[in-house]
Amino acid sequence: MLLWWFLRLTGFIMLCKGKASKCDDFTDLDFHESFMGTNLNVKLLLFTRANLDCGQELSHLNLMDQPLFHLGHTTTFVIHGYRPTGAPPVWVGHVVNLLAAQGDMNILVVDWNRGAANLNYYTAVANTRKAAENITAFIHNMQEKGAMLSSIHLIGVSLGAHVAGFVGALLKGKIGRITALDPAGPLFSGTPPEERLDPTDAQFVDVLHTDIDAFGYRGPLGHIDFYANGGADQPGCPKTIFSGKSYFVCDHQRSVFLYLCSLNQTCNITAYPCSSYHDFLDGRCLQCESFKPASCPILGYHVSEWRDSLLRLGQTKAYFSTTSESPYCKMNYKVDIVTWNQYMRWGIVIIKLHSGRRVVEAKIDHKLSKFEQYTATRLLAQFDEDLNPVQKITLCFVTGNVIGPRYKMRLLHIRLTPLERPDRPQLCRYDMILEENMEVSFRPMACDEPHI
Ligand SMILES: *[C@@H]1O[C@H](CO)[C@@H](O)[C@H](O)[C@H]1NC(C)=O
Ligand SMILES: *[C@@H]1O[C@H](CO)[C@@H](O)[C@H](O)[C@H]1NC(C)=O
Ligand SMILES: *[C@@H]1O[C@H](CO)[C@@H](O)[C@H](O)[C@H]1NC(C)=O
Repeated sequence: MLLWWFLRLTGFIMLCKGKASKCDDFTDLDFHESFMGTNLNVKLLLFTRANLDCGQELSHLNLMDQPLFHLGHTTTFVIHGYRPTGAPPVWVGHVVNLLAAQGDMNILVVDWNRGAANLNYYTAVANTRKAAENITAFIHNMQEKGAMLSSIHLIGVSLGAHVAGFVGALLKGKIGRITALDPAGPLFSGTPPEERLDPTDAQFVDVLHTDIDAFGYRGPLGHIDFYANGGADQPGCPKTIFSGKSYFVCDHQRSVFLYLCSLNQTCNITAYPCSSYHDFLDGRCLQCESFKPASCPILGYHVSEWRDSLLRLGQTKAYFSTTSESPYCKMNYKVDIVTWNQYMRWGIVIIKLHSGRRVVEAKIDHKLSKFEQYTATRLLAQFDEDLNPVQKITLCFVTGNVIGPRYKMRLLHIRLTPLERPDRPQLCRYDMILEENMEVSFRPMACDEPHI
């Protein structure tokens, strides 16, 4: 016991001393330097479970100088993007900690801040090639010392995604995996595959898009391309320029925060393969047939579990919606409705789920839904919270009709299927009358037929 305290104490003292002298930090440039521009320098900061808070700069030539660097382990490179102000990215520490929790790996934070911090975006773009050549030389060196290319994972943010793509191309696509977080769009859109990230750059390329209408890249670049909330505007991000800096970066940065949540796994975000976000919201892509018996792929780090099916499919675009705050997960229900009315009805649908005194609401209003006699209508209802068990459901069919008699609509059957929780029962109700613009509440019942 005494010995343990002694070791802890000396360890602590050494750590304090170490902090002052032995940890290597991410380059922090001031505005003046970023304004004038600095020469590219590629610094590789190693973090492992043994030194989570104390980065160690690796020598580009003498890898074996650093005993914490284990070439037999997976090596994950984290490559940042354009840094207009020169400050270190806020998320580096979080990424390192959450990656280390996934497995005993080498985490190499690639600090190319001296090439990325420049008021002139063109200069930063020009430096992506040079940074990639430098990283490639380092990986060749790792290979010579016995590392396997298949155990290398590059995670690139924004411009860093294209750096990762160039490294992958220089290594003939033999790298195990590239993850791209909102790959940069400006100056890359419309370029041929060799001038940007593309699926041939690694054995498996997964991409997350969050800002396709500004800083991000619009088209698909990987084996799977996730489009969060359609890929353009993220909930909770300012919509006007009056919000200052966050107006510019919020959508773009959301990719990193979504990825961090996928590492954290408080909840999993399921993404649905589809041709467009609109079709997804229309409930046309909720089947997940291609992945049976697995579910549709989940966003982020763990999508590697779907790798074989995704490689078989070639290229997949997948969609999902999020809430405005961490952990961002929504709960999706497939809603199947059959009506009896002789005349067609159009309107938006509002569904509330109640559990005890808690209520969540889904408003299905991205377009008017159509209800036709004996025709099954499928809707997607997305809730910000997962309430369980659902004890009561409130339905409201909203039309623009405000004067005159209220139309009635007879529901022959309604069925709600919790998409991300196949272990839970479907919720049904048979034969009920809805009046337009009036809420109707009911207790869900067990469904007659088994899961369909
Ligand atoms: C990579 O960059 C580092 C630092 O800028 C430099 O020391 C090293 O020689 C470069 N490697 C190559 C192969 O150019
Ligand atoms: C999320 O998905 C992963 C991978 O499929 C699984 O191991 C994990 O248990 C899931 N976590 C939750 C909270 O459902
Ligand atoms: C994971 O996310 C939850 C919810 O956002 C948060 O409370 C928790 O601190 C996170 N854990 C880690 C290890 O980041």
